[in-house]
Amino acid sequence: MKRVLFVDDEVRILEGLRRMLRPMRDEWEMEFAPGGEAALDAMSECPFDVIVSDMRMPGMDGASLLEQVRKRHPQVVRIVLSGHTEMTSAMRVVPIAHQFLAKPCEAEMLRLAIERACHLQALLNDGSVRSMVGSLGDLPALPRIYDALNRTLADPDSSLLKISAIVEQDIGICAKILQLANSAFFGSAQPVTNIQSAVGHLGLNALKCLVLSLEIFKVFEPKTKIPGFSMDAMQRHAQITAHIVARLPVPKHLAEVAVVSSMLHDVGKLILAWKLPRRFAAAIGQSAKSQQPLHKVEERIHGFSHAEIGAYLLGLWGLPYPVVETVALHHSPNRTPHQGFDAIAAVFVANLLAHRLEPVSEQFDPESDIAQFEEDLMALGLLDKFCVWQDMVKDVPALVAGAKPI
Ligand SMILES: [Fe+2]
Ligand SMILES: [Fe+2]
Repeated sequence: MKRVLFVDDEVRILEGLRRMLRPMRDEWEMEFAPGGEAALDAMSECPFDVIVSDMRMPGMDGASLLEQVRKRHPQVVRIVLSGHTEMTSAMRVVPIAHQFLAKPCEAEMLRLAIERACHLQALLNDGSVRSMVGSLGDLPALPRIYDALNRTLADPDSSLLKISAIVEQDIGICAKILQLANSAFFGSAQPVTNIQSAVGHLGLNALKCLVLSLEIFKVFEPKTKIPGFSMDAMQRHAQITAHIVARLPVPKHLAEVAVVSSMLHDVGKLILAWKLPRRFAAAIGQSAKSQQPLHKVEERIHGFSHAEIGAYLLGLWGLPYPVVETVALHHSPNRTPHQGFDAIAAVFVANLLAHRLEPVSEQFDPESDIAQFEEDLMALGLLDKFCVWQDMVKDVPALVAGAKPI
């Protein structure tokens, strides 16, 4: 039984939730608190698994409450349930909350959100992932340009000019951002030729995440050479995957998450190559020898794969929750309940297509073994479409090669 705490200053809304969620009684033990202070009291009396809070409340508001919950009970899943008009202020809690839901919210959606968040929490809070990350010693600091962007965006005096100047410090990153902004996905009729107009097309958040996904390859430059692994190949693979996802029929509101997640999906490999090169090399070797996908071999050896490690780090760095979730599930979309062709399904498919069109390693591409994924594709109802899409994106590798020289 999961223990879920609902917080809202309006008793009428709490009553509504209580009524609506009555059918969940067998799965959840629910409590209702009329404000932040009452919620914290309830939590210190008895542990909860999930907190679902309103944003605008007199006294302690939702953001302060969730911040306190994060400090005092870090393992609790934090969900914001707020009115549409409060969504902008809800963005203040982006790094603090795991999920955002808009009122009014149907019972089924609430159930799905709570289940998904609990699932990811369990996946990433697994003892072996945590102790592995703990054993890495100092985690890399936030990449420089990404950090500078974060600070500038938090500054009320920031301007588009200042933001572009920061991104333009790195010509390679600039070129790749422009290329993505010009991809069909962002649907620009006019060519995007500078960072300022790229921001207009991508949005500031997407820009920030894309900068991170490009900069990350510099942070994790491995000290030793690992057979079957190359940073250049990985970076190229990330870009090919992002360009493929850009052509898939992802719903518009999930587009940003899909592109950013596909750029970052294999970041766990970079961490392993950088911090544990020998163990990583052994896993690649075994994967080639047994012709088994790398993530399966990793799971057997460590109890988790590069997908969870990458998601865990991105979570620590405060990337948006849907990106963390999509990265965690890029090999196994069906591990969590989700609906339709969402970002998780799209990145899973794009990764498969990318590995198929251009194997990352010459001898054996540990992620290209389609037989392993057929079951998942079938469960997603995408087996037929896969071949059609493969045809539709077959020119992508050549496109990325064209923009590579910088
Ligand atoms: Fe992967
Ligand atoms: Fe991949």
